[in-house]
Amino acid sequence: MRLSLYASAFVLALGVSAATTAHADENFKNLKVLKNNGKDLEKGMKAISKGLGVKCTACHVKGEFDSDKVPAKDKTRAFFTAVVGEKDQAKKDAAAAELIKNVEGAALKDAKAVWEGVALLQKQ
Ligand code: HEC
Repeated sequence: MRLSLYASAFVLALGVSAATTAHADENFKNLKVLKNNGKDLEKGMKAISKGLGVKCTACHVKGEFDSDKVPAKDKTRAFFTAVVGEKDQAKKDAAAAELIKNVEGAALKDAKAVWEGVALLQKQ
């Protein structure tokens, strides 16, 4: 009886870990601030780009999202560190003002989209 209980717990655990792996299907390689939360990370990136009025290439080498060759990317890590999970809007606004100075061509075109994007991100 006890053995079969352990056996079913084991099977259950296997099932749960398989389900978790299926969701974390994005193979990100160079996250230093953000957690790999799969599709939400990409949705967040899209909303932030739209809000700043820039393309992904403002921070990324085309097709090599893990590369750190574009200096704006590392500057944006400081932004994410400051704003992800932060509730104080004044602090978030100050970080956004700093961010747009560091990202070529960026402006706060649609602040709502930026903060919606940030809300999809999680820190490690
Ligand atoms: C304003 C700068 C900025 C823009 C614009 C931006 N990103 Fe990012 N992105 C980052 C930063 C910073 C990281 C690294 C975060 C970390 O280290 O935790 C990142 C990481 C990523 C990663 C993870 C790469 C890996 O393997 O580690 C992907 C995928 C990604 N971005 C996709 C996109 C897409 C798609 C767009 C356009 C829709 C985009 N990003 C626009 C700043 C930006």
